[in-house]
Amino acid sequence: MEVKEHFSLKNYNTFGIDANARYFAEVNSIHALQEVLSNDTYKRKIFIGGGSNMLLTGDIDALFIYVNLKGKHIVQESDKHVSVKVMAGENWHELVLWTLDNGFGGLENMSLIPGNTGTAPIQNIGAYGVELKDTFIACEAVRISDQKLMSFSKEDCAFGYRDSFFKNEGKDKFVITAVTFSFTKKNHILKTGYGAIEEELAKNAITSPTIKDISNAVIAIRQSKLPDPKELGNSGSFFKNPIVSLETFNAFIGNHPNAPYYKVSDNTYKIPAGWLIEQCGYKGKRIGDAGVHKKQALVLVNYGKASGEDIICLAEQIINEVMNRFNIKIGPEVNIIK
Ligand code: EPU
Repeated sequence: MEVKEHFSLKNYNTFGIDANARYFAEVNSIHALQEVLSNDTYKRKIFIGGGSNMLLTGDIDALFIYVNLKGKHIVQESDKHVSVKVMAGENWHELVLWTLDNGFGGLENMSLIPGNTGTAPIQNIGAYGVELKDTFIACEAVRISDQKLMSFSKEDCAFGYRDSFFKNEGKDKFVITAVTFSFTKKNHILKTGYGAIEEELAKNAITSPTIKDISNAVIAIRQSKLPDPKELGNSGSFFKNPIVSLETFNAFIGNHPNAPYYKVSDNTYKIPAGWLIEQCGYKGKRIGDAGVHKKQALVLVNYGKASGEDIICLAEQIINEVMNRFNIKIGPEVNIIK
């Protein structure tokens, strides 16, 4: 395994932050991953997949390990369902397109999400009413402490909204190497109720949509609101939508009766952070090369030469402003690497 030194991570994070890794290595097999994990020369090790959910705050004194495990294969198949094991380094959107080409249903609403398959379970990625957990069966991960390859069921993963075991008790303890999904082969369960999917289908006069039609609708909606990281550096939603108590919610909605919200449970409500940020006047705001996206206030962007600190400065201003105005605390969704 070749270890590079003072390696620019600009092309390995979708924010396009030009920060250096003290050391950088790419692994292409589980064996190579286990080998590098057992090597004590490097005190701090950081794993990267698609680099789509991280913010680098500066040069980092660590060994960055690019987990580039490839491959997917069918592990079980019946008339109605198919289970597919996908290696961690497979690009997420390419996987979605592959399922559609094969007529497999389940991932269509999650089209065009940047990143790789292996990092998807960590934050239980989701979009347009569907989350990774809905098709997830199991994953495999190498335990960092003893390099043991272990299997995790859906229950073990304790999925929640942008949350899992791997963000809590399992944080920094495992590297996910593969994910197994279950897809439908017929009688697909179509979810068109969320966001603008129905509008988009109607616009194209589609009355009985296929999974491919839904994917195309999601792609069109995402392209109209979310910046393409190849053109404008970003990490998707920078903030999570805050989940507040009934008491906080009642106070909030009393003052802002037209605000959008989602009921999570009898005692908890989710409020779109994008709306809160827009109300504070930050949508489209730019400070130097750090900015808030013009079409979706939840997304922070790098106009070119922003440093990680520039992005954090802007994020802190926004968090404070939302707190002052609404008495609601919003927090980052992306991993901030210091
Ligand atoms: N809104 C505003 N102003 C904005 C943005 C949103 O008022 O600038 C309002 C919208 O009008 C709408 C509500 O907020 O009433 C929700 O907006 P949207 O449907 O765009 O979704 P979101 O809650 O802002 C979440 C995910 C996105 C995902 C979309 C669609 C999180 C943190 N983000 O955004 O995920 O694509 O729903 O399902 O849950 C990502 O995680 O990187 C991501 C892009």
